[in-house]
Amino acid sequence: MRSNILEDLLHQELRSLHSAEKQLLKALTKMARAATLPKLQAAFHARLRETEVQITRLVDVAVLLGKNLGPYKCRGMAQMIQENETLCQEDASDAALMAAAQDLGRYEIEEYGMALTLASRLGLDEVEALLQKNLNEEKAADARLTKLAKSLNQDGAAAGDMPESSARSMRTVHDLDAASRV
Ligand SMILES: [Fe+2]
Repeated sequence: MRSNILEDLLHQELRSLHSAEKQLLKALTKMARAATLPKLQAAFHARLRETEVQITRLVDVAVLLGKNLGPYKCRGMAQMIQENETLCQEDASDAALMAAAQDLGRYEIEEYGMALTLASRLGLDEVEALLQKNLNEEKAADARLTKLAKSLNQDGAAAGDMPESSARSMRTVHDLDAASRV
């Protein structure tokens, strides 16, 4: 594939990621408000701070490439947020909020994996390093949520109301890891 096609694909992927992170920022703000478990509130607040930094890194990548990121709306993330909306209401259970956060985070893991593949093929080392930082944070956040969900289940606090999407998320973590390790 010619490099200008790869550059266009990378640009599109970056626009998509930038929009996805901004949408997630709003969703996480709501989810942090809805969470009742202090550990989950802390996890969402940490995620919010990370997301702000990730957006800054994406802007840095755009500057390095001399590209513009907006205006653009990532329809994939918009759909994911819409699908998880009932899980993110103010009266949602902590288990439901965790499941929603993991679904949204794993969408980002896949997207960063694709962007990294393109940056690598184009030999854009600085871009790759910045995207890798974001991906590492996404994976670490996912691992923290998985650990928290497991500890809740072990305590029995969330047993019985863990939605199917959470179980699905746990089953797919290794698949996503493999997909994003390029
Ligand atoms: Fe993110």
